[in-house]
Amino acid sequence: MTLCEWQQVLEPKVEGTWNLHKVLPKAMDFFVILSSAGGMMGSSGQSQYNAASTFQDAFARYRWSQGEKCISLDVGMVSGVGYAAENIHIMERLGRKGLEVLREQELHSVLDWACDPSRALSSPWSTQVITAIGGLSKSQDSLHHLKRPMYRHLLRKTRGMSHTTRSAKEKVDFSALIHDAKDADKARGIIASALANRLSQALSIPLEDLELTRPVYSYGVDSLVAVELRFWLANEMGADVSVFDILSAQSIDSLSGLVATRSRHLIPPS
Ligand SMILES: NC(=O)c1ccc[n+]([C@@H]2O[C@H](COP(=O)([O-])OP(=O)(O)OC[C@H]3O[C@@H](n4cnc5c(N)ncnc54)[C@H](OP(=O)(O)O)[C@@H]3O)[C@@H](O)[C@H]2O)c1
Repeated sequence: MTLCEWQQVLEPKVEGTWNLHKVLPKAMDFFVILSSAGGMMGSSGQSQYNAASTFQDAFARYRWSQGEKCISLDVGMVSGVGYAAENIHIMERLGRKGLEVLREQELHSVLDWACDPSRALSSPWSTQVITAIGGLSKSQDSLHHLKRPMYRHLLRKTRGMSHTTRSAKEKVDFSALIHDAKDADKARGIIASALANRLSQALSIPLEDLELTRPVYSYGVDSLVAVELRFWLANEMGADVSVFDILSAQSIDSLSGLVATRSRHLIPPS
């Protein structure tokens, strides 16, 4: 991308938004920015557009910090009207990737909501409304960048279900499985498979992409996820391992071995 291509897209959004902020009076009833969902989920070949959108989202928070109204609408692909609708090849390309389409009527409804002068925004984060990303988890196979750990929160949200909301029916009794395994090697296999499942859910990485020979950190596990894993290993596997152990260079398989040897559920035959 040339500098000119970068600036051509960035300038109207960044300078245009800033100019409106400067020129328009204070204490307006509403100030709504049409940003794009691309800023949140990324899209190939549009880094300048996505960067401009994240500026608009951050700008809405800035106005909030000044006590001024502002909502940044992260609009998804709109059908029937606007740039995407006028460039049908774009609609078709993005449609093939499984992205949701926002109908004009739906956009009007979101605008009605955002333009309501009585709308109170309780926190800087309530200034951003992301639309049309409900089906994002289904687009993972066609939008490969979504597999990166940095998108896991977004995917978890759009799935509408996290590991903590799994039904009781699906709950596995690991204490019984480890107890019945009786030897550390068998228990390690059980734990490794459970740990891989757990990582797949927490990081939104397909299970088949997780290799047991790789360390946990290589999949983007940060200290927050490591703390979560530590509690999970203590509760489910009955083993106390440190965050340091979890984030170390040992493979998932070898970490599972460590968990097995420390598990209070594993009682080797006497
Ligand atoms: N359409 C979608 O699917 C979609 C999806 C996500 C987000 N959005 C966001 O929604 C907003 C509107 O999109 P749209 O599809 O309606 O776009 P559009 O049909 O291309 O309209 C863009 C508007 O911006 C004006 N504009 C463009 N460059 C400008 C510049 N340098 N200075 C001043 N004005 C300029 C154009 O003015 P002229 O008419 O004079 O050219 C036109 O009125 C954009 O902010 C876009 O990021 C749209």
